[in-house]
Amino acid sequence: MENGEGREVRWGFGENISLTSAGKNSIRATLYEVMSSLKEGDPRPVIPLGHGDPSTFPCFRTTLVAEDAIVDAVRSAKYNCYSPNVGVPSAKYAIAEYLSRDLPYKLSPDDIFLTGGCSQAIEVVISVLARPGANILLPRPGFPAYEARTAFHGLEAQHFDLIPEKGWEIDLEAVKALADENTAAMVIINPNNPCGNVFTYQHLAEVAETARELGIMVIADEVYDHLTFGNNPFIPMGVFGETVPVLTLGSISKRWLVPGWRLGWIATTDPKGIFKETKFLDSMKNFLNISTDPATFIQVKLNVACLEDIHDDIDFCSKLAKEESVILCPGSVLGLKNWLRITFAIDPSSLEDGLDRIKSFCQRHSKSSK
Ligand SMILES: Cc1ncc(COP(=O)(O)O)c(C=O)c1O
Repeated sequence: MENGEGREVRWGFGENISLTSAGKNSIRATLYEVMSSLKEGDPRPVIPLGHGDPSTFPCFRTTLVAEDAIVDAVRSAKYNCYSPNVGVPSAKYAIAEYLSRDLPYKLSPDDIFLTGGCSQAIEVVISVLARPGANILLPRPGFPAYEARTAFHGLEAQHFDLIPEKGWEIDLEAVKALADENTAAMVIINPNNPCGNVFTYQHLAEVAETARELGIMVIADEVYDHLTFGNNPFIPMGVFGETVPVLTLGSISKRWLVPGWRLGWIATTDPKGIFKETKFLDSMKNFLNISTDPATFIQVKLNVACLEDIHDDIDFCSKLAKEESVILCPGSVLGLKNWLRITFAIDPSSLEDGLDRIKSFCQRHSKSSK
């Protein structure tokens, strides 16, 4: 570009290419990519089983008490002003009181830092921990925002595996092998995204013991605890006691209040039961393997060898979108190639419809059907 005096000038801004790959690693971007395969003109409704947001479905309608509380707060005109950027004091006080009910010690409002959603909490925590030379241990599969933020801040990320055969428990031996004197923290996601499991008290106690031995902080991302169904109890973080530093990110109550300023959901039906009622998983065992009793999502392993014309999880999801108008999340974006994440945060009849369509897709592409 020329400036007014005929001299060549260059724009002073440009892409930070060291972040390009981190930016691509996003569930939303991957789902948009899958959705681009949807065929126009399919008269059937699109069934979104790739997302984790049930708010559009009436069976997950937020409780009226919570809705009224928001309306009352807005109408009171007490809060229509700048607030302290660590959170409104009365909210911090209420959260500290509430969380203390599960703990062997008492939190004070100063222990609470409110953010606009868990993503901002991740940004804040990672930027605080990213001192030169430090590293952090992340779960695989995991939530891609951690990889993106660590890349952004130059904090080295090391990965430990979650073990499908053990209900997605953490491979604690791997954690011990990875940790060194520069390890600042390990992240646990519980209830887990993407695997959908909830850790047992016993396993959390082992995590606490390991963290104590290694001298590392535990960052507990609990964003989905409002979405656990069935037999999976919420496991109080009190198991960590006062001897391991624990930073809890995410939702602050069981089922109805979630981080930041957003409201949670209450399930008035149990969509999880549909997997059992429709015998979906039994009938699909040639193609898909499930290894755990899920809390929010079902993580299933794709048996590519049994399918004609399907190369991998991304190919499966793209063709499924095109032929059946069903959206699933490919495991690759979460660190698990050839796995699929299926959510049941959707109304039961759509879930049933979606599972039927997945079934006919697999049967149509089955090698044995040729
Ligand atoms: C494990 C995990 N952490 C963090 C987030 C981000 O939470 P928020 O949407 O509140 O920013 C999500 C959202 O899906 C999540 O699943």
